[in-house]
Amino acid sequence: MSLNVWKYVLIIIAGFGIILLLRLITIGEKWKYDIVSPMYKVQTRKQSSNLSESLQTFHHNITFCAHLAKSLSPEEQQEERNLLNSIAWPHPPSGSASPDLSDTSDPAHSLFTIVPSKNNQHWYVGDQLEVQVHLHDFKGRPKRYGGDFLLARLHSPKYRAGVAGQVLDHENGLYSVRFPLLWQGLAQVNVMMVHSSEAVAVLRRLREKRPDRAFFVSIFRRGRHSEKTVCNMCLPPDKGPLCNYTDLHYGEQWYCYKPKGLGCDTRYNHITGGYTKNLITKKEALLFQSGKNIKVPIHASTTDSINVLPSRKERSRQKMDPVKLATSGYYYQDSWRPLGGVPMRQFNKASAITQCLTNKLVYMYGDSTMRQWFEYFLTVLPGLKNITLEKPKKQGPFMAVDVTHNILLNYRFHGPPVRIQPVMISELRYIANELDGLTGGPNTVVTLGIWAHFSTFPVEVYIQRIRHIRKAVVRLLDRSPETVVVVRTANPQALKRDVSLYKSDWLMLQQDIVLRAMFKGINVMWVDAWQMCLAHREPHDLHPPRPIVKTMVDMMLSYICRNATRKNASFLSNE
Ligand SMILES: *[C@@H]1O[C@H](CO)[C@@H](O)[C@H](O)[C@H]1NC(C)=O
Ligand SMILES: *[C@@H]1O[C@H](CO)[C@@H](O)[C@H](O)[C@H]1NC(C)=O
Ligand SMILES: *[C@@H]1O[C@H](CO)[C@@H](O)[C@H](O)[C@H]1NC(C)=O
Ligand SMILES: *[C@@H]1O[C@H](CO)[C@@H](O)[C@H](O)[C@H]1NC(C)=O
Ligand SMILES: *[C@@H]1O[C@H](CO)[C@@H](O)[C@H](O)[C@H]1NC(C)=O
Ligand SMILES: *[C@@H]1O[C@H](CO)[C@@H](O)[C@H](O)[C@H]1NC(C)=O
Repeated sequence: MSLNVWKYVLIIIAGFGIILLLRLITIGEKWKYDIVSPMYKVQTRKQSSNLSESLQTFHHNITFCAHLAKSLSPEEQQEERNLLNSIAWPHPPSGSASPDLSDTSDPAHSLFTIVPSKNNQHWYVGDQLEVQVHLHDFKGRPKRYGGDFLLARLHSPKYRAGVAGQVLDHENGLYSVRFPLLWQGLAQVNVMMVHSSEAVAVLRRLREKRPDRAFFVSIFRRGRHSEKTVCNMCLPPDKGPLCNYTDLHYGEQWYCYKPKGLGCDTRYNHITGGYTKNLITKKEALLFQSGKNIKVPIHASTTDSINVLPSRKERSRQKMDPVKLATSGYYYQDSWRPLGGVPMRQFNKASAITQCLTNKLVYMYGDSTMRQWFEYFLTVLPGLKNITLEKPKKQGPFMAVDVTHNILLNYRFHGPPVRIQPVMISELRYIANELDGLTGGPNTVVTLGIWAHFSTFPVEVYIQRIRHIRKAVVRLLDRSPETVVVVRTANPQALKRDVSLYKSDWLMLQQDIVLRAMFKGINVMWVDAWQMCLAHREPHDLHPPRPIVKTMVDMMLSYICRNATRKNASFLSNE
């Protein structure tokens, strides 16, 4: 072959190489949003039932399983309607169903401006700071509609102080953010766009139409024969016979496809199956780009800082209306100061915690963010022994005891849906049933933290679960009004593209509003994890870092060991 021919061959080979490389890159890209947990991959290899078939389970043309709504009383239906109205979120105009990225909100082109103070450019402690945020698209044109999801924080590194802002959507591309001014000195405003309104529209569609985007499996076992099938809160019956694991007391529904060669009573464990892939189009994926339009800061048009002067009169501090501001507290010198309710105490010494918990029975129910509290106690209390007998597992249940001081701590995960490592069916319990089994009393403390595992379902599912738990809490407080019940709210987390589709802060915040509204008027104490994380300088994390866990636990202990008579710390559930 002549040299010339070789040249062509080499060019062609190089061409293929580039094409191959490009293909690999696009496959890599695709892989990023087609997440399937490694566990699922391993498991599918040894499955005996046909998982790939039963995964295409939900009819995507119905909003959600019809049977879930069946058993609601008229009052419950009314409450559900009110709750759904309370979390209504502006839709982008219908013409922008599948917008080009260039027409969507771009934090880099957007700006915020501090609204000048009415008092000669002076701000005083007790005043309110207002910030206006103007959203623009990727071409720099102002947005004309609302629905973007923003978070904001005012902070002073010097005083290790911070407070969350309240965002108001004017539905025309403008947003107001309000902050109470609670300490003096230089304070700096941070605003971030968590998602564009266009991205929120995608999340809303996924929430309503793709409750299958996280899926679950169970292993069935008898002797040496075992099978695995898909399970969920609802499964279409036309894909095969179902096993019905609906809870007998509260009617929480759960189904698995019946294994071919085994009975429904041979269900052995529950495992997270993984995440469904191909949820969004390539165009939609552009709305979820880390560093570009997920949790990206919006810059100030001029300055982002103000100097806050000492309060002018005592009176002005009293004007602060935490209810209207919906601010539950703030950090100063890294310690959380709640606004109203029970005063915060610092529990810096193990002896103070032990003293507070002496003779107490503490029941912690919820997800892994509640388990963090249990783990915290184990690390700070030397007298507390983890007496969990089984081999290491994250999913519990756990028990810890301090025999000298008569302290018993229990932790238990909530019932399905739970995305969790294998858990035995015998350990899978619904919180409402557990609460019904408690006697309660002045020495009983119940803490609840239920949020993270519901984000892949329509809000109705969360409403139903909280309704059942609330029923059980009300009954518990009726029979033993002295029982302390503490509710931990949701918290913001680190969001990459994939995480957003399943667990976005937007999904969590919507649930959180529902949670707070549903416990309104009931004598429970709140730990506002949302604001405790938002106001803090640490980056958002599903499992908040230790200083925030300490803050939450201190708040809980402050409720248990108040000196004053019990107050209803209910300003959180704002009118
Ligand atoms: C599983 O179901 C799919 C889709 O119906 C089918 O193509 C495949 O052959 C089935 N696999 C087994 C092992 O039955
Ligand atoms: C929804 O889809 C299912 C299965 O594809 C079909 O049987 C049903 O008729 C559809 N319902 C509506 C309202 O389109
Ligand atoms: C499952 O069982 C519950 C309780 O017995 C029942 O109410 C429900 O209708 C059953 N579900 C189906 C799909 O049969
Ligand atoms: C408690 O002990 C069990 C058994 O050793 C272990 O699996 C578990 O991780 C421990 N729990 C905590 C919270 O440390
Ligand atoms: C509450 O109790 C703590 C610790 O026992 C004590 O230091 C504090 O003074 C008490 N506060 C009130 C208002 O009684
Ligand atoms: C607390 O709330 C209950 C019921 O909502 C009410 O009866 C009681 O008076 C309240 N107590 C205080 C101290 O506000």
